[in-house]
Amino acid sequence: MIGSLAELMANEDLKPEWIVCPGDLGDRASPEGQAFVWRELNSLKNAIGATHLVGAAGNHDLDSRFANSGFDPLQNIKSLRPLFPGRTQAECDQYWARHYVIYEQADYRIVNLNSSAFHGYGKVDDKNGKEFEFGRVSEQTIDALKSDLAKADFRYNILLTHHHIVSNQHIYAEEYSEMRGGGRLMHRLSEATRSSWFVIHGHLHFPEIDYGRGASIAPVVFSAGSASARSSGGASASPPNQVYFLELADSSDNLDGWSPCGTIRSWYWSPEGVWAPSPATHKIPDGTGFGTRLNAKQAADRFENALTASGEPYVYFQEAFDADPLLRYLLPGDLDLAVFELRKRSFKVTFGVQRADSILRKA
Ligand SMILES: [Fe+2]
Repeated sequence: MIGSLAELMANEDLKPEWIVCPGDLGDRASPEGQAFVWRELNSLKNAIGATHLVGAAGNHDLDSRFANSGFDPLQNIKSLRPLFPGRTQAECDQYWARHYVIYEQADYRIVNLNSSAFHGYGKVDDKNGKEFEFGRVSEQTIDALKSDLAKADFRYNILLTHHHIVSNQHIYAEEYSEMRGGGRLMHRLSEATRSSWFVIHGHLHFPEIDYGRGASIAPVVFSAGSASARSSGGASASPPNQVYFLELADSSDNLDGWSPCGTIRSWYWSPEGVWAPSPATHKIPDGTGFGTRLNAKQAADRFENALTASGEPYVYFQEAFDADPLLRYLLPGDLDLAVFELRKRSFKVTFGVQRADSILRKA
C-alpha cells in the first residue's frame, strides 16, 4: 500500500514538500513492522523528491509492554535509521529529550509533539489507568513550548502529534485515550500566537476534520485515517484506509481573513487494491476544504449567487468554488449544512462521486 504511493503521486503530478506520518508505524512496537514502514517512507521520500520526512511517536511505537526489552521502551524506535522522527540528529535528540521539536520553514512552523512521551513510565493505579492507554502532555512541556513559540511569529502554525487533543466520544462511546492535558495545550498554543492552528493527529484511525475549542481562532483539527492498518473501528465505525495530500491556500487576502485555509486531496484503498479518490460519502472526501467558517445561510446565499451569476440553469460545485473561494474552503460538515439549507430553499443538489462534481440547480 505504501509502496504504491510514489506511483500515485506521479500519476497525479503532485510533489509534496513534506511527508508526515502521525505515528504507529507497527503494531505493539513490532521491530520488523517499524523498520519496514520507516524504510518504505524513506524510499517514498527519495522516489518523489520530498524535502522532509517526519513522524510522530505513537503508542505502538514505544515498547511500553517491554516485549523486546526488559528496561527500555525506546530501544526499537531509537534504533531506526535514518533517525526517527526524522531530519537532523539534533532535532531527534530534542524530540526525545524535551518531548517536542519545532521545524521552522519560510512562513510556517511545525511543532512535532511526542504525546507518547511517558509510555513505559508512570504510576499504575486503578484511578488513572495505565500510562500507555492514553496520550499526555505535561505542564512543563507546555510551558517550554510556549516560551519557544514566543521567540518568533509565523503565518502558519501546525501541530503534529499522535493522540487526539480532546475526547472523540461521538465516534467511540467508550473512548478515553485522548491526550491528557490536550485541551490545556491547545488553549495555550492559541493564546501564544493569537491565530488558528492546524492540528494533525493519528491514533483513532478515523478520518475526520473539524474545529476545536476557541473563539474564531479555534484550531482546525485533522484526524488522519490509517494508511494501512487492518482494523474495524469498533461498534460505530468501520473507517477506510486513507492517504492525503494537503495544500495550504496561497493567501488569506480574498478569504475574509480566514487562515489557515486549504484543501485536502484524499485517496482510499479501494476493493480493487489501488488508491482511488475518496468519494463524497467519506468523512474526508477528495477535495475536502477547511478554513472558512460560514454558517448555513451565508454559504447557501453564496451558492445561490454563484448560480445566478453563471446565467446557467445549473452549476457544478467546482464552478461555484472558482467563482467564490470562500465556498471551496468549507469543511465537509459545513458544506452538508449549506446543502441542507439550499434544499430547504427548494434548490436541487445532486451529489457527484467527488465533492466538486456535485451539481446545484433550481428545482
Ligand atoms: Fe495509536
